[in-house]
Amino acid sequence: AEIHIVNGPNLNLLGRRQPEIYGKQHFEAFFEELKERFAGHRLHYFQSNSEGALIDYLHKVGFGKVGIVLNAGAYTHTSIALADAVAAIAAPVVEVHISNVYARESFRHHSYLAPVCVGSIVGLGFAGYALAVQYLLDALQHEK
Ligand code: DQA
Repeated sequence: AEIHIVNGPNLNLLGRRQPEIYGKQHFEAFFEELKERFAGHRLHYFQSNSEGALIDYLHKVGFGKVGIVLNAGAYTHTSIALADAVAAIAAPVVEVHISNVYARESFRHHSYLAPVCVGSIVGLGFAGYALAVQYLLDALQHEK
């Protein structure tokens, strides 16, 4: 099956950005591990700091037979436009956050995306992406 991992603003800095919160690994290195782990499936990675580019990407891939893993960064807490895009597309979207947003500032406790996603994984570090990919592969296999 085909899975798209989509990271939003500031997540290009993973490995360098607040490593005490987000870890020391660069996402590109982790993505290589993911591709090995899920060899035989088509995994794609897209990152943008721009809300519009994220929305355009969801529109482009979201009507295919694909699953989407979305860490929208701070747009999670602000963007009705991104939530509308997730609601508009056909593909299932799993929301992922590396950090436990509920243990942090209260402005991180609300997600515009959670109600339009199939589910959310928060606070499990990069492992959350792998769990989301596994879930989506199972889900896509079981739907005809
Ligand atoms: C984040 C949590 C957000 O609150 C924050 O703005 C991020 C990263 C996470 O993965 O933990 O940029 O989405």
